[in-house]
Amino acid sequence: MGAKVAIVGATGAVGREMRRLLADRSFDLDGEPVFLASERSAGSKLPWRDGEVEVRAVSEDAFAGVDIALFSAGGARSKQWAPVAAEQGAVVIDNSSAFRMDDEVPLVVSEVNPDAVRTRPKGIIANPNCTTMVLMVAAKPLHDAFGLTDVVATSYQAAGGAGQGGISELLEQSAELIGDEERLRTRGLDAEAAVEAETFSKPIAFNVLAHCGNFTDERYTDEEWKLVNESRKILHLPALRISPTCVRVPVVVGHGIAARLTFAEPVTRDGLLEAFDGAPGLLVEDGTGLDGEPLAYPTPLGSAGRDEVLVGRIREDLTDPHSANIFVVGDNLLKGAALNAVQIAELVVRG
Ligand SMILES: NC(=O)c1ccc[n+]([C@@H]2O[C@H](COP(=O)([O-])OP(=O)(O)OC[C@H]3O[C@@H](n4cnc5c(N)ncnc54)[C@H](OP(=O)(O)O)[C@@H]3O)[C@@H](O)[C@H]2O)c1
Repeated sequence: MGAKVAIVGATGAVGREMRRLLADRSFDLDGEPVFLASERSAGSKLPWRDGEVEVRAVSEDAFAGVDIALFSAGGARSKQWAPVAAEQGAVVIDNSSAFRMDDEVPLVVSEVNPDAVRTRPKGIIANPNCTTMVLMVAAKPLHDAFGLTDVVATSYQAAGGAGQGGISELLEQSAELIGDEERLRTRGLDAEAAVEAETFSKPIAFNVLAHCGNFTDERYTDEEWKLVNESRKILHLPALRISPTCVRVPVVVGHGIAARLTFAEPVTRDGLLEAFDGAPGLLVEDGTGLDGEPLAYPTPLGSAGRDEVLVGRIREDLTDPHSANIFVVGDNLLKGAALNAVQIAELVVRG
């Protein structure tokens, strides 16, 4: 018999992809899934295969009979309801940051540390942050080959990383500003003042914001600290040195990360390509267009709707023979969130 699955946050940007993946992949489901969200959505209907399933508000009895609960409704909801679901026997796969750094909760990227799903004393498995996830898929094969010691990473994070609200804000502001080229060209502060920023701290349309998440220790944001702490936990490298800068860009879906990786061993471009060859969940798109070589590099927009993480601009560092520079992209809603959660569910079911 298959698994009874619930999605907490089924109406959200990530929840929508979870519903699609559960319907499309050959996941062995026990009947229809349970779709949960806030009181606001209770009673509404969401499409499921050829029919519809009614959305229910999360409650104590919503998890009865549920084998796997995919949580994607923010940290506060996870903290409140994940232990309730686990107590009732469900394996919780949590997409929020609530439990990621808990020593008793494995933090799993399905291609990187799949075996970690087996040890889950709290009945909870955490899905990493979307930027960390995308970087890990490319960093792991290089770490296996050369021994990773340092990372300098700058992210280019899509508005959709902040959920449906972030996508709407980008599109609405873009529509508001696009007709006035003169203002965008010569009166930028007026353009910024003409639109309202709610999800982000400044207008995101036609802009680049050096601010993702909330400012916290040492003047870094929590999004930047996630990259530091989660990478160390996933790779089992507590001493890994990471310098992060997370930046929000006007892309709907698809995160990019420019990373300089330093290794114990010296690296060459050929060695890097060999290490990437056949790495699970990863595709190389890398060409300069010079000397008859096709021009190829991945883009965040081009990653939207794709399962794979893509890597390009693979270069030896100009100054350090132990370092390499790469550009990695991935769909933040898919591999960065919903797909990895469903892949973890598949690992759990496989046992
Ligand atoms: N977006 C990404 O790229 C991404 C990547 C990795 C992880 N995440 C994490 O995934 C989670 C969801 O993100 P999202 O982007 O899908 O956000 P979103 O589009 O804003 O969706 C939020 C979801 O949470 C539900 N929710 C809100 N308040 C609730 C409550 N009091 N009780 C029950 N459900 C409630 C919403 O239901 P209603 O529709 O009823 O309000 C909606 O289904 C967050 O924890 C986020 O940090 C997101």
